[in-house]
Amino acid sequence: MKTSNIHDVQELKNTIIPDRFVRDLHERPLLPTFSNNNILNQVPIIDLAKINDGDLSEIANLAVACQDWGFFQVINHGIGEKLLDNIENKAMEFFMLPLQEKQKYEMTPGAFQGYGQAFVFSDQQKLDWCNMFALGVDPPFIRNPNLWPTNPPNFSETIELYQSEIGKLCKKVLRYIAMSLNVRAEVFEEIFGENVQAIRMNYYPPCPRPDLVLGLSPHSDGSAITILHQKKDSSVGLQFLKENNWVSLQPVPNSLVVNIGDTIEVLTNGKYKSVEHRAVTNEVKDRLSIVTFYAPSYQVELGPMSEFVNQNNPVKYRYYNHGEYSRHYVSRKLQGKRTLEFAKLTTDAMA
Ligand code: OGA
Ligand code: NI
Repeated sequence: MKTSNIHDVQELKNTIIPDRFVRDLHERPLLPTFSNNNILNQVPIIDLAKINDGDLSEIANLAVACQDWGFFQVINHGIGEKLLDNIENKAMEFFMLPLQEKQKYEMTPGAFQGYGQAFVFSDQQKLDWCNMFALGVDPPFIRNPNLWPTNPPNFSETIELYQSEIGKLCKKVLRYIAMSLNVRAEVFEEIFGENVQAIRMNYYPPCPRPDLVLGLSPHSDGSAITILHQKKDSSVGLQFLKENNWVSLQPVPNSLVVNIGDTIEVLTNGKYKSVEHRAVTNEVKDRLSIVTFYAPSYQVELGPMSEFVNQNNPVKYRYYNHGEYSRHYVSRKLQGKRTLEFAKLTTDAMA
């Protein structure tokens, strides 16, 4: 029988949590409960229809959302409810398949596409309480056709359709982000060239001891922006750092969650920062998130745009090749904002 690299959390039927999932004390999460639900649901909501209609005050709200939060939710985003239902239903069907079936699309060690757990590089490393299924989508050369499932039926077609719609939304959001920065709306599209887009579905089964584990280790996203859709009736699971506190985000119905990734942090010389986030689990409810990463072409050389560099705000990041950054990002474990140190100029270098 084929041995597997997959540490499948859906296969853990015992109520004892295996050691590899039990976090050291300082890493254990504070869970969203009724007593601390003051930390819920406070991220800005941005109405994209208002911006479409030329409402400049909504652009100002977007600027605050990007600068002070790094996370926001968009409404009137133009992605049909039916498509959102379809993608979450198909994704659930996939995760509910027997392991043997999902193993046909197994993520090989060190790779980031397929079914399994990404970012695992040693036998000592703690594991996340999460099964992932990830695919590179655009440009077409990043696709591995063997990993696009034929089961469940129409899953791959639904991913294709969903990704095409989300890609358009990403372009639109990036234009609005540019407007919020007082730079030309097209500027990111021009810099990015033939953009890279990938999808990752994260399935978090209920966990008997959510206080001991993490659903997903703290990290910032290596993308320019990320768009997250959460299955209806999911548990609250996404948390991000706000003024050094972990805040739980509960998506409001019909919205999509957007967050700033490392690329935008570098391009804006730190004006808009990628915010560290993680996922926690729940004792009774499962959770599914469908996450799209939108990034520049691998060929692009990036660095802070001149508009964001001046005497009061000296250059904080070096120029680098985005493909190189992407390889760097996927070749080490998730560790907060550690990966962006790749691009950070040290104080010494700045002097
Ligand atoms: C991610 C991510 C959070 C979540 O996939 O990069 O941050 O809630 N996911 O699943
Ligand atoms: Ni993320």
